[in-house]
Amino acid sequence: MSKFSVLILAAGKGVRMKSGLPKVLHPIGGVPLIGHVLTTVLRLKPAELAVVIGHHADAVKLYVKGRWPRAKFFVQDVLDGSGGAVRRAIPWLKKQRGDVIVTCGDMPLQRDQSLKDLAQAHRREGNAATVLSAKVSQPTGYGRIVREIGGGVRKIVEELDATEPEKRINEINTGTYCFEAKALAEAIRQIKNNNAKKEFYLTDVISILKEMGCRVGAVVCQDPNEASGVNQRADLAHAEAVIRKRKLEALMKEGVTVIDPESTYVTEDVEVGPDTIIYPQTFILGKTRIGSHCQIGPWAHITDCTVENDVIFRASFAEASIIRKGARVGPFSRIRPKSELGPHVHFGNFSEVKNSKLGEGSKVNHLSYLGDATVGKNVNIGAGTITCNYDGIRKHPTTIQDHVFIGS
Ligand code: UD1
Ligand code: CA
Repeated sequence: MSKFSVLILAAGKGVRMKSGLPKVLHPIGGVPLIGHVLTTVLRLKPAELAVVIGHHADAVKLYVKGRWPRAKFFVQDVLDGSGGAVRRAIPWLKKQRGDVIVTCGDMPLQRDQSLKDLAQAHRREGNAATVLSAKVSQPTGYGRIVREIGGGVRKIVEELDATEPEKRINEINTGTYCFEAKALAEAIRQIKNNNAKKEFYLTDVISILKEMGCRVGAVVCQDPNEASGVNQRADLAHAEAVIRKRKLEALMKEGVTVIDPESTYVTEDVEVGPDTIIYPQTFILGKTRIGSHCQIGPWAHITDCTVENDVIFRASFAEASIIRKGARVGPFSRIRPKSELGPHVHFGNFSEVKNSKLGEGSKVNHLSYLGDATVGKNVNIGAGTITCNYDGIRKHPTTIQDHVFIGS
């Protein structure tokens, strides 16, 4: 696929979220809304990526820069609509050689395949503008695609400006488009704000380009779910559910058993090996990597951990730690950051560990706390053992060598 650039509109206020946090930074599956959009567009390897920011511009910029340092930013100081947002990027548009995909920062469910389909159709048909549309049962709230008798696209009309017959159209504008950059730069100057919201609508460029004699088209998105934008908290929950389901389906395809997808939460970046079984009521989050032939859950909560093969992990919490092959964790244990449980370690029954290393085959099975400790191989830590690591001012390490037996 030949090169194109991407422009993300993310200046909007997101009033309906009723939040102090900018809308595009609200997390879904632990990743901000705009993070999902970035993941999707970056898979297409765009020549350049630009973002229009406005509301809480600094926070949004900081996040995007963290993900893609080369991103360009345009600040929309007055929020005068999606068309106003694109206007801020006119100088950048003029510098783009080929096509530009314009999309919104509040559409976390869109997939890269749909963007590829859009760009391909755009080129195949030789369009100046191609809209990614969707056919939905509930078009309320979206812009409608008004087609000509022959089926071509005539214009996009916003809900508030639509006539009754137009409101009955169920093909909607997803808010994603592919434009010939120069044509967009030209048409966007001509939009006016004589509409219900007194805003400059990006959608008006469609009819303007038609009047300029350019070709305009629309590609219908395969999965209408992809079109759902997040405008209020209920949309956030809906998007969360869709993203979660997609992740679990991907894991199952790779050979992981998920006993109860309804009660299992696994976020985007998690990796799980084949023949691992995930039991109900389980959370696997962050950068966690789990090996094969493990049994995870029920009631497991694992964040940013490495879990090797053949581990059994039940009813416990673990964070930022390593659990080596064949270890057994739980029930009811807490593994705090910077811990390493060696191969075949048994750790459970109301025991806690923090910043400690346990050697191969060691056992901590009853009501114990190990903090800042180094424990050797095949050590038995008896019931109720505590490594006193804190004197109120300083932390002190404890070392227990191999084959030590500690009673109760
Ligand atoms: C927009 C489309 C509508 C489409 C829908 C899909 C327009 C006029 N309407 O409506 O046809 O069906 O998306 O979800 O574009 N933004 C700015 N600056 C602004 C205003 C908006 O950057 O001044 C950004 C927002 O951050 C957002 C995007 O533009 O990412 C769309 O804005 P939003 O207010 O959500 O538009 P919708 O009413 O959803
Ligand atoms: Ca929206």
